[in-house]
Amino acid sequence: MGTTLHVIGSLMIDRVLRVPALPAAGETVMARSAAVHPGGKGANQAVAAARCGARVRMLGRTGSEGAFIVRELAAAGVDTACVMTSDAMSGFAAVMVADDGMNSIVIAPEANSRIGDVDIDAFLAGASPGDLLLMQNECSGLGHAVTAARARGMRIWLNAAPMGDAVRSIDLGALSCLLVNEHELAALTGIGEAEAALHQLAHAWPKLDLVVTLGAEGWIARVDGAIARGHAIPVNAIDTVGCGDAFVGALAALRSEGMPWIDALARANAAGALAATVAGAIPSMPMREAIETLAQPH
Ligand code: RIB
Repeated sequence: MGTTLHVIGSLMIDRVLRVPALPAAGETVMARSAAVHPGGKGANQAVAAARCGARVRMLGRTGSEGAFIVRELAAAGVDTACVMTSDAMSGFAAVMVADDGMNSIVIAPEANSRIGDVDIDAFLAGASPGDLLLMQNECSGLGHAVTAARARGMRIWLNAAPMGDAVRSIDLGALSCLLVNEHELAALTGIGEAEAALHQLAHAWPKLDLVVTLGAEGWIARVDGAIARGHAIPVNAIDTVGCGDAFVGALAALRSEGMPWIDALARANAAGALAATVAGAIPSMPMREAIETLAQPH
């Protein structure tokens, strides 16, 4: 099972509208259906890692109406002792999913913004040197968490999603792995072409492992100093919400158990593809057995 994976991240109530096509600015469209799902990039990735076989603990905050997300985490085997309920409103994600499975999301962090430095220090006291800390950019405390985890000798992975000032203020040299999608990569580097942007980051941070998910185009990475890439696995995509989280969570789990990068990336790619075949974020995080099956060469 490897070392423990520690996740500091968000819990969101995903309010999802299925629409024929994503609306343009100023346009009103009629939804086909509305649903509520458990989500948040932190919770999604914690569940993805646990379903992939990792021992996972999480630090997060939600409001009382988000208690169902904590139950989902626990049911997946995530240690939720540090997932606290506050009197703030739960994180809110307004999600639209079009008929082609593509999505558009706006988040309001709310309770996720109440994670304090004291909470982070208490959480990290339960970690050992060499353990992996996985974070995203939907909750407070990112800068302090990086400093504190580095001081403890942890490996720090940042999924820089969504891109924002908190990410830009991080010393990327403190990270062991940066994970982004093509939009976040372009926003971070100012370069629109993914491979060129990856090379620029790799040049600036030669020791940093870099993983870029490219949606239907697959992924590209610079790991152990070499460029690697893979194609997306064709599936019947009905809902792409959480695909990136399935990829990141599975990858973190597999690297925590010591799997070589290339094997772990192939399985993470399969996890992302499987997530597109099920509606919702946490409900779509796949089990290890399904990942192994899809990741086999066809
Ligand atoms: O990555 C998908 C997630 O982004 C959704 O579950 C939503 O909550 C937002 O955080």
